[in-house]
Amino acid sequence: MSLPVLVDCDTGIDDAIALTYLAVHPGARLAGIVSTGGNVEVDAVHRNNLALAELLGIDAPISRGAQRPLVAEPMTADDTHGPHGLGHASVPEPTRATDPRDGAKLWVDAAHEHPGELVGLVLGPHTNLALALELEPELPQLLKRLHVMGGAINHRGNTGPTSEWNIAVDPEAAQQVIQAFTAAPSRPVMGSLEATETVRFTQDTLERFGDLARSTGHPMATVLVDALRWYFEFHEADGLGWMAHVHDPLVTAHAVTGDFARTSPLAVDVELVGTLTRGQTVGDVLGRWGREPNVDVLTDVRPAEFVEHLLAVLADGLAQVARPC
Ligand code: BDR
Ligand code: CA
Repeated sequence: MSLPVLVDCDTGIDDAIALTYLAVHPGARLAGIVSTGGNVEVDAVHRNNLALAELLGIDAPISRGAQRPLVAEPMTADDTHGPHGLGHASVPEPTRATDPRDGAKLWVDAAHEHPGELVGLVLGPHTNLALALELEPELPQLLKRLHVMGGAINHRGNTGPTSEWNIAVDPEAAQQVIQAFTAAPSRPVMGSLEATETVRFTQDTLERFGDLARSTGHPMATVLVDALRWYFEFHEADGLGWMAHVHDPLVTAHAVTGDFARTSPLAVDVELVGTLTRGQTVGDVLGRWGREPNVDVLTDVRPAEFVEHLLAVLADGLAQVARPC
């Protein structure tokens, strides 16, 4: 039995790898894709999602999400992901149709179609999920589980000094989601930077993606190689060396397999008013708040095993999935 997954993403280089993984993993079945503004503005994200879905033969509904964050001014990360979101890669102009529902409605409909079975996966800002919770407050009870890439707990940020991108873009949405999911039967799983930054793609990893493109001959593999080159260039320009932290695929693989990391319960809140720390995810490690844990944070990541798994799933999957005409 494959796991139905609704993914909400701001594609985005690492989102593109995660989408490819979801499209080809035999244990996952995409129930829908929601495009969220983040790495690039929402129309560019949506174009990427439609184009990648076409390349990968994904037939799940794809809806355009909200035009802007709930409260914050929109921001994008063109330096990190390139002006169109996929680094140096170019993708064909998509021809497939946008689902007429907005992102929030697609979340709600997918949850009702798969009550108790749907895995929600947020790989970008939480705006659409926060809007979906306004439409359907029972959403936390309808999902099997929620997994999010977001936050930096006792770890430096990658956007502000203490804030991580997906939370920093729409802190109010992230806070509303965290609060709403305290009522969920199982705690949301949060893959924050201290977990995802254990994954370091090196030159060797990049070359293995090149091998993948040659061995499978699938155009999606070439898109990933060209996108990754930009990601490496960005990380180098940011002072981190010739490597790339690839966040979203780890959270995705853990959501699908339950493997490659452990989880640890923690009370977490989003700082909304700090003049220096807005968007920080504050984790109460010593229990000073006296509150029940409300998230399970990813810990004890096994990055090398994860990278091998990722490459193996993509190699098998892209060799089998039909090439677009
Ligand atoms: C997150 O921010 C985005 O740039 C990436 O796609 C990832 O989801 C990492 O902070
Ligand atoms: Ca992302």
